[in-house]
Parts: sequence; structure tokens; C-alpha cells
Amino acid sequence: MGFSSCSNLFFVLFILFSYLLRVSIGIDTITSSQFIKDPETLLSKDGSYAFGFFSPENSTNRYVGIWWNSRSTVVWVANRNQPLNDSNGIVTISEDGNIEVLNGQKRVIWSSNVSNIATNTSSQFSDYGNLVLLENATGNVLWQSIQQPTDTLLSGMKLSINKRTGEKSKLTSWKSPSDPSVGIFSSSSVERGNILEVFIWNETRPYWRSGPWNGGVFTGIDTMTTAYFNGFQGGDDGQGNINIYFTMPNNEVFLIYNLNSQGKLEEMRWNDEKKEVEVKFTSQKSECDVYGICGAFAICNSLSTPICSCLKGFDPINIQEWNRNNWTSGCVRRRSLQCERVNNKTTSTKEDGFLKLQMVKVPDFAEGVAVTPDICRSLCLENCSCTAYSNDAGIGCMSWTGNLLDIQQLESGGLDLYFRVPETELGMHALDKGTKKTIIITIIVILGTLLIVICGYIMWRRISKNSDGKSEENNSDDAIGGFSQVKLQELLVFDFGKLATATNNFHLSNKLGEGGFGPVYKGKLQDGQEIAVKRLSRASGQGLEEFMNEVVVLCKLQHRNLVRLLGCCTDGDEKMLMYEYMPNKSLDAFIFDPSKSKLLDWRTRYNIIEGIARGLLYLHRDSRLRIIHRDLKTSNILLDEELNPKISDFGMARIFGGRENQANTTRVVGTYGYMSPEYAMRGLFSEKSDVFSFGVLILEIVSGRRNSSFYDNEHAPSLLGFVWIQWREENMLSLIDPEIYDHSHHTNILRCIHIGLLCVQESAVDRPTMATVISMLISEDAFLPPPSQPAFILRQNTLNSTQPEENQGVFSSNTVSITDMCGR
Ligand SMILES: *[C@@H]1O[C@H](CO)[C@@H](O)[C@H](O)[C@H]1NC(C)=O
Ligand SMILES: *[C@@H]1O[C@H](CO)[C@@H](O)[C@H](O)[C@H]1NC(C)=O
Ligand SMILES: *[C@@H]1O[C@H](CO)[C@@H](O)[C@H](O)[C@H]1NC(C)=O
Ligand SMILES: *[C@@H]1O[C@H](CO)[C@@H](O)[C@H](O)[C@H]1NC(C)=O
Ligand SMILES: *[C@@H]1O[C@H](CO)[C@@H](O)[C@H](O)[C@H]1NC(C)=O
Ligand SMILES: *[C@@H]1O[C@H](CO)[C@@H](O)[C@H](O)[C@H]1NC(C)=O
Ligand SMILES: *[C@@H]1O[C@H](CO)[C@@H](O)[C@H](O)[C@H]1NC(C)=O
Ligand SMILES: *[C@@H]1O[C@H](CO)[C@@H](O)[C@H](O)[C@H]1NC(C)=O
Ligand SMILES: *[C@@H]1O[C@H](CO)[C@@H](O)[C@H](O)[C@H]1NC(C)=O
Repeated sequence: MGFSSCSNLFFVLFILFSYLLRVSIGIDTITSSQFIKDPETLLSKDGSYAFGFFSPENSTNRYVGIWWNSRSTVVWVANRNQPLNDSNGIVTISEDGNIEVLNGQKRVIWSSNVSNIATNTSSQFSDYGNLVLLENATGNVLWQSIQQPTDTLLSGMKLSINKRTGEKSKLTSWKSPSDPSVGIFSSSSVERGNILEVFIWNETRPYWRSGPWNGGVFTGIDTMTTAYFNGFQGGDDGQGNINIYFTMPNNEVFLIYNLNSQGKLEEMRWNDEKKEVEVKFTSQKSECDVYGICGAFAICNSLSTPICSCLKGFDPINIQEWNRNNWTSGCVRRRSLQCERVNNKTTSTKEDGFLKLQMVKVPDFAEGVAVTPDICRSLCLENCSCTAYSNDAGIGCMSWTGNLLDIQQLESGGLDLYFRVPETELGMHALDKGTKKTIIITIIVILGTLLIVICGYIMWRRISKNSDGKSEENNSDDAIGGFSQVKLQELLVFDFGKLATATNNFHLSNKLGEGGFGPVYKGKLQDGQEIAVKRLSRASGQGLEEFMNEVVVLCKLQHRNLVRLLGCCTDGDEKMLMYEYMPNKSLDAFIFDPSKSKLLDWRTRYNIIEGIARGLLYLHRDSRLRIIHRDLKTSNILLDEELNPKISDFGMARIFGGRENQANTTRVVGTYGYMSPEYAMRGLFSEKSDVFSFGVLILEIVSGRRNSSFYDNEHAPSLLGFVWIQWREENMLSLIDPEIYDHSHHTNILRCIHIGLLCVQESAVDRPTMATVISMLISEDAFLPPPSQPAFILRQNTLNSTQPEENQGVFSSNTVSITDMCGR
């Protein structure tokens, strides 16, 4: 009782206090008769943004601005250079039709400054934090705050260049966190030599650059690996402007780019799990992000010490300065170029060549040249003043003359840069492609042999020590000291004894499941880390080939939507793989289990679909290898603690070379129901066969029904057939899992079904790529073409008669598969 009245009092005080602090009035429109005065605020209809008076932290000045209501994050300020001294300010529509901020003496502090307004106007505040001045009679927009950025780029706000006048809209930082007046940093886009990029300026000096925009991403930002992760768009709008802007994906609550008073451009995003605004990207991740820190002809790598090094064939101009870590003078050529000597009429037959830098932010002052990639190189070679070139699918050929400034080594993304050196510097790189290939193969063979020898040695040590009567414990420790920590790109080679200990000698109680290729055990390493151990049975279908395949593939992949391989072990007939342990089992354990399917609501399922799509896109496009998974199905999707999906089981994956995009196999592997027709029947597989499996996955996730559960159904030959029939009859409700149906997500669910149908179309060419799928998923406005009839509708009989054995295929059965390892 006492507690309750006390909390009631508290509540009343709280309400009163909030009222005093901020009075929001029930309108979202300002007119000449309807003004707002300090401390009133205007809320957008959905309540997410507020417009009104505020004081920054540690300041008593009053400003008129727009902030994100949940966290009072200020995104726009009107009178940033003319603060109000008291709380007598008002915002109104003036007689000339402009929005104005007036002080207590009715003096104009700020105005929207539109000239020649002939008619009555009013001002509205929209859901996206945009204050708009409208012409009453026509509804035309005369002015909007989104066209006048302060320090924050909001969804839809444009950094633009007017091609005719050269006028730019730009972000300008605050002076300090408590002073919104114009600071020293600004950010704007620059178009030069047909290349568009974004700069941050310290006064007038460049402070950071994004690297060339390629129509989808900024090539110098390594976290922006594909267009679909960040939603940026840009280019010529056909009306005389060049724009860069982003659109907030529908599943985000709050996403802005803010240029803070230290000159850092930061992506701030609402994290709904942590309930806080997170900084996801910052333009100043390391010193290497400072423009030109290494000077000309040098490369900056934040992971090496010192961070700057001269390009091969170049030496520091001033070695004393350089050694004092003052790199700004840069580097100079050790030997002059052949082409320069030729011009000086010395005779020589040798030519200059190019050295390659991989995954770099390419230098500033690129020149876009409209030629094909193969001509790019020869064009550069022919002209002695060309110092480097690079090719990008989106931009085309780029070339540089003179100094190469602001090159940065990236950890992912970036472009390959070829810089010009005299023939004498070429060395190893001068070898022709065939020789290179031979050398690479030789190295791989040597590494492979080494791995086998090491595993063999560990085993031999174990056996010989055992026969010496020493304890198992001891010798596994020895092995740790000796060889089990041999690292192959983070991959640990474990010894058998250690794994036996971790899994309690492969005890039955540790068994997680029985997969098609052998049992999977839960284990705990000495340091407490939980792992899943797949022990391939001797008689398993997964032979050494699949085993090594899985090791090699997984070893090189890292993505939040792919399961991580931690280590491996081969010991005689024993072959084992260690993965991160996934406590939440696989997707099929949820969606097909009536008692559990409730646990995955639509939002979660949608996140799972999106996660799988991102993992697949990474396999297909973004990893350095191009990989076709070939056995995508619900039981191969594992869920982590937060129910994020992770694609697993790469035993059947195929790696593609750079140009190939389709292959033929005599060994059809995969799972019935998920295989595309061209693969099941002709053994042809490509990215599009994974897209097909992904489509089946979407439809299973939405409907909560197994594709295979339709075997004996007379009315619909398969899930795909069933979905197709309902789609044509526009009877979509009947295919959505009733456990997840939520009216507020109706369109979103239908959209997913539509995308699923596009993925399972009969003809591989018609199916979208994973990149397109992701853009369809995250952008509600993206156009979806009508799907054509899915595969397998009429062919059911043909397929039924083609039994796996007759097909000489290796099928991993739908119910028992190796990825059950993290289940049960
Ligand atoms: C406000 O002042 C306090 C105390 O001087 C300081 O700790 C805090 O960082 C200041 N906040 C801002 C935004 O300047
Ligand atoms: C605020 O006060 C200062 C000093 O008294 C004065 O110079 C300035 O004009 C005032 N600003 C406004 C917006 O009234
Ligand atoms: C409006 O115009 C006046 C005079 O031309 C100028 O001083 C003022 O800075 C302008 N205000 C804005 C917000 O552009
Ligand atoms: C604007 O509205 C006022 C009152 O509503 C009216 O008197 C005036 O004529 C209007 N002006 C124009 C230009 O339409
Ligand atoms: C302009 O339109 C708004 C909203 O329709 C209305 O409230 C306002 O009175 C109009 N202004 C004038 C001057 O007519
Ligand atoms: C910006 O430029 C000034 C003047 O050169 C310099 O003192 C300051 O350190 C620069 N700021 C940053 C963050 O580099
Ligand atoms: C670095 O070297 C440049 C060029 O000699 C010089 O102007 C600058 O002052 C030096 N900077 C420092 C921090 O010593
Ligand atoms: C070429 O000749 C010019 C002037 O004669 C000289 O400055 C330059 O150093 C020479 N270049 C080489 C590579 O010898
Ligand atoms: C070489 O390139 C420079 C800079 O792009 C250009 O000005 C010059 O005309 C080119 N020379 C030849 C021979 O193409």
C-alpha cells in the first residue's frame, strides 16, 4: 500500500516534471495564426521526431531544432548561429509566408528565406523528421529542412552538387557538443574526373575520403561490402544534380549519419536488443583514415607498425623525418621509369610494368576512362605520365597521373590497384600466369603434405607415449605445446586425445545427434569453450574428399551468418571437425514443431530469412572465393542464442574460379525437394541452384510446412505446387503458418512469398541473384516482377520415378543429416 502510493506520487511528479520540461501540443502544422512558443514542441504523427525548442547539454542557449524523440538525438538545428538568450522565442509563419524564429522582442532570428512567395502558406512536420513549408492553394513544397542539412544526414537527405552552379549541400559539424554553431569540419561530395566520392574537410583541407563511389558502395569503406547493407544510392539525377543519399531500410527504427565536432562521420543506429543508439561505422577507425597521412607513393596499413610504408620500388624522400614517424613528405622512385629514359633518347628495349596492391582504398585524383578493362592496362602503359590504373565493375577503368596519394590497405572490400614500376622492380611478378599457377599449386601441395605430416606426428607422439606408460593427460598437453596450435588462418588442428577428453570419450550423453555422415557430440575444451564435434564415421559417405573440402572452404570464410569451423583432426580413419556450438539447434527443429513454432514470430523469421540471404550472398559474391553451397535446407540452418541464422554444412560446397559461373557434375549431391530442376536432372549447378533452395526455404519458413510433407498429397504435388495454386487463386492466407500470422505484417509476409516464388522459377535465368533478393527483401518499394510457374509442378511423376540410386546421386536425407549436430 505504502509502496504503491509512493510510486503513484512519483508518477505524478514525473508527469508534472515532463510537462514543465517539454510541452508537446496536439498539432503537426504551423500557420500564421497557430505558432509554437518555447517550450512547446511539435510531434510528428508517429511520435518518432519532435520539432521545437531545446538547449544542448551544458548550455543555457535556446535553439529551434528537430530531434529523434526517444533519445533526444538532435538531427537538425534552425538558428544554430543565432542562439536565443531567453525562453521567449516563438516559431511562426511570417507575413511573407516564411517559417521564422522570433525572439522576445519579435526580432527575426532565423528565417526559411524563400523569396517571392505569392500565396498563403503553412508548415507541416512529417514522420521522417522533415519540416516542410507548403503553399496552401497548391500543396507545393516551397522549402524543407531536409534540403538544408546541418550536421546530420537523415534518410532521404541528399549531399548534392548542382552541376550548373557548382553549389553543394553539405554537412557542417557543430563547434562542440554543447554548441551547434558551425564548426571547422564539413562533409560534401566531390565529382572530379568522372569519379564521385564523399570527403570530410578540416576547414578547407581534406581530412577523410570515402574512396570512389561505384554506384553501389564507396570502394574505400571496408564495412560497405555490398550495396544492400547500407542502402546508399547516388549519381546523376538527370535534373542537373549529382546526389548521394541513403534510404533507411524498413526494418530499422533509427539510422543517421552524423558529422561530429571532432570531424568523425558516424553511422548511428538504434539497436533494439540493447535498447541503445549504437555507432556502427566511423570514418576515423584508425590513423590511416586521416587523409594523406603517409604522403605520396606510400600505403597505410593500420595493422602494421609503423603504419606507413613506401610502395615497392620507392624510398622515403626524407629518411630522418620518416623514421620519426612524420611520413607526410612521402616516397620517391628508386629507379626512373623505362619510358622516361626512352624519352631521354637512351636506348633500351625493356618495358615498364605494373605491381598489384590488393584490397586497397585507391588513391585520390582518379580519372575515369570509358574503356573496357583489357584496354585499361595498355592505355596506361602507353602513356608515360600514367602512374597507376584500376578496374571496378561499377566504375570501369580508372587511371592516375602524378603522385599517388592516400592509399589505404583495407581488411575487406577495396579495389586492386596496379602501379607503374620499371621492369627491374618486377621480379617474381613478371612471371607469366601459367608459372604463377604452378607455383601456387606447388605451395598448396606442400602445405597439404605438411598438415598431414603434422597430424600424423601428433598421433605418433600419442601412441608412442602411451606405450611408454605416460598418462593421456600429459601427452595432450605436450601436443598443445608442440603442434595442436598450428594455425591455418585461425584454424586449430586438434589432437584426438584432447577431443576425446572434451567430449568425455565421446560419451553417449554428450551426443547431440546422429547425422548422415556420423554422430555429433557436444564438447567442452579445457578453457571452458563449448564446441560441437562432428565425428565422421568410418563407413560414412563423407569421404576424405568431402572432409578436406569442408575444411578448406570453411577455413577461409568468416561471416556472421555462417557457422564457424574452429578446428579439425584426422587420426587414422578418424576424421573430425570442430565447430562453434549453437545452443538453439537448427531451424527445422522450430518451424516444423507445432509446440515450438510459436517461439519464432514473424519478425524473427524475417530476420532469419534476411540473415540466410546475407550469408548466401557472402558465399556467392563477397568472400574472396565464389562458393555454391549445394545443400541448403532448414536442417542446415543453425540458430545462435539470439536466433540469428548460421548456414552450416559445407561438405558439398563447390568453389568456383573467377570467371566460371556454372558447372556440371556427374555426382548429384543435395537434398530432394531443395534441388533445382537443372541440377537434379542434368547435374548443372550455379548460384541459381542455391537461389532455388533458398526459395524453398522461404516458403517453408512462411508456411511452417516441409516441402517433403506433400509427397502423398493428391491436391498439391509439392509445397511449391501448393503455394503456386494458392497464389494464383489469391488465397494467400491459407499458406501462412497461423502461428505467425500477424495482420500488421501482412504485406511483408506476402512480399516474402512473392520473393520465394521468384526464386523457385523453373528457368534459372529468371531467378533473381542473391544480391537482387536482398534488395527486394529490405526495400519495400523495390519492384517485384510477377513470378512464373515454379519448377516441379508438372514433373512430379518424372522425378518420383528417378530414385536417388538410379540417379547415382549421393543424397543426404532430409531427416538425418550431418547438421543435426547442434540439434537435439
Ligand atoms: C558537461 O559538463 C560536464 C561537467 O563539466 C562534463 O563532464 C560533460 O562532459 C559536459 N558535457 C558536454 C556535452 O560537454
Ligand atoms: C544574446 O545576448 C547577447 C549579449 O547580451 C547579444 O549580443 C545577442 O544579440 C543576444 N542574442 C539574441 C538572439 O537575442
Ligand atoms: C536569410 O537571408 C539573410 C539575408 O539575405 C541572411 O543573412 C540569412 O543568413 C539567411 N538565413 C538563412 C537561414 O539562410
Ligand atoms: C491569405 O489568407 C488570408 C486570410 O485567410 C486572406 O485574407 C488573404 O487574401 C490570403 N492571401 C492570398 C495571397 O491568397
Ligand atoms: C493554410 O492551410 C492550413 C492547413 O490546411 C490552414 O490551417 C491555414 O489556416 C491555411 N492558412 C491560411 C492563411 O489560409
Ligand atoms: C584541423 O586543422 C587544424 C589546423 O591545421 C589542426 O590544428 C587540427 O589538428 C586539425 N584537426 C584534426 C582533427 O586533424
Ligand atoms: C613533418 O614534416 C613536414 C615536412 O618537412 C613538416 O612541415 C612538418 O612540420 C613535420 N611535422 C612534424 C609533426 O614534425
Ligand atoms: C631526362 O632528362 C631531363 C632533362 O634533360 C632530366 O631532368 C631527367 O632527370 C632525365 N630523366 C632521366 C630518367 O634520366
Ligand atoms: C597522357 O596522359 C596525360 C594525362 O592524362 C594527357 O594529358 C596526355 O595527353 C596523354 N598523352 C598521350 C600521348 O596520350
